Amino acid sequence: MSFSWSAKDHKSYSNPPSAGLKRPRNDTGNKVTVVLGAQWGDEGKGKVVDLLATESDLVCRCQGGNNAGHTVVVDGKEYDFHLLPSGIINTKSISLIGNGVVIHLPGLFEEGDKNDKKGLKGWEKRLIVSDRAHLVFDFHQVVDGIQETQRQAQEGKNIGTTKKGIGPTYSSKASRTGLRVCDLLGDFNDFSARFRNLVQQYQSMYPSLIADVEAQLKKLKEYGERLRPMVRDGVYYMYEALHGPPKKILVEGANAALLDIDFGTYPFVTSSNCTVGGACTGLGIPPLNIGDVFGVSKAYTTRVGIGAFPTEQLNAVGELLQTRGHEVGVTTGRKRRCGWLDLVILRYAHMINGFTAIALTKLDILDVLDEIKVGVAYKVNGKRVPHFPANMEVLHKVDVEYETFPGWKADTSAARKWNDLPAKAQNYIRFVENHIGVPIKWVGVGKSRECMIQMF
Ligand code: GDP
Ligand code: IMO
Ligand code: MG
Repeated sequence: MSFSWSAKDHKSYSNPPSAGLKRPRNDTGNKVTVVLGAQWGDEGKGKVVDLLATESDLVCRCQGGNNAGHTVVVDGKEYDFHLLPSGIINTKSISLIGNGVVIHLPGLFEEGDKNDKKGLKGWEKRLIVSDRAHLVFDFHQVVDGIQETQRQAQEGKNIGTTKKGIGPTYSSKASRTGLRVCDLLGDFNDFSARFRNLVQQYQSMYPSLIADVEAQLKKLKEYGERLRPMVRDGVYYMYEALHGPPKKILVEGANAALLDIDFGTYPFVTSSNCTVGGACTGLGIPPLNIGDVFGVSKAYTTRVGIGAFPTEQLNAVGELLQTRGHEVGVTTGRKRRCGWLDLVILRYAHMINGFTAIALTKLDILDVLDEIKVGVAYKVNGKRVPHFPANMEVLHKVDVEYETFPGWKADTSAARKWNDLPAKAQNYIRFVENHIGVPIKWVGVGKSRECMIQMF
């Protein structure tokens, strides 16, 4: 017998829910398109978001903080965004920082002012900030540094965080002592008392922490007033955006699947959910409103910071990828570790995110290679494992099985359509696509906006 449920079964239900249960999907309002990192970050999300933002009405960040560094190159000008959604470049769209983001106010205004000097005028008028977003304080950033020093001393290694205070701020949020935008804009005496308590708590945990509390409060009050005109109830703002007239809404993921606090290479991860669930919890929107989910991956793999990296190439290939790809962290200036494309992690990222299509960036960096390898499976003790190992000791020990492809040895940077690509490059792309089981919608062949081949 098939299970069916009707309003008649619940006599006390005065408002029969059957209409709701049978509601067709297109009744649910506008859909949001989500762009997510599918590797360890820096895949080129900024570039993909910029491409889509030119026709979006609203571009939202839903998690992370200014640990992110997203590069956008337009008309030869290079912008790097950390807290501002990359869509802020588009003067016709609104940008939103959702409740799931952690905001360092000095960082936000510094970033805005720096971009203003580059010609990005009027950004404050195009930015909406959720009143539920948590605040990163200067002392959170100092504590981030102290924790890294302690990890190094205790375990002989640290995480290699960006020291932007991300971990300590999400810890404050989870321990329910954090302070939010709405607190800063509410009763300032109350905010100050809670701020003093929070500093004291951290000082009792980290006696070396020095903080000029009164000076920080004075600055915070000023930042709060500058922020006030941008602040809205984020949930209601999104509700109206979803249920008003048709709108194109984009969500810009920060960090990436393998840095996700739940699904990443824990503990060498960041402190938020960088996978698709983060779009719902970080903006307060229902899963039914999620439309396309685009995963962004380089045509090879990079990682900043510490942690397992099965396809890493600590040899001439790794060095070539690092130098040709200018693989240097946008936020920290650290050299990125480089290796072959790892399809095991892309399949894992797809299991979690359900990508509807992939953007494969930086194909041009592979142009000079004689042969190109792709990791297709992991073996543990000689046996293939069908899943991505949770345990880092296991991940450190996996043997990677590779497929080898001949290099195309031709410049792809001027290619603008599929047919402009050498047959061997097409072959590489098709293999990746088939192996992940997700169509590749874009192929990146250069930094700037126009260097993107759209496949469909
Ligand atoms: P994000 O954090 O995912 O937005 O990526 P980042 O901006 O940190 O790093 C990506 C880097 O690759 C930036 O310097 C981009 O300008 C650059 N980039 C993106 N796509 C391409 C591409 O297709 N080819 C080349 N050569 N560079 C690219
Ligand atoms: P985008 O959005 C690359 C890494 C850090 C470190 C770990 C934890 O530009 O792709 P955190 O400061 O978040 O506590 O650091 O996560 N990390 C990133 N690596 N790109 C990023 O963002 C990153 N955000 C965090 O290097 O290893
Ligand atoms: Mg980046």
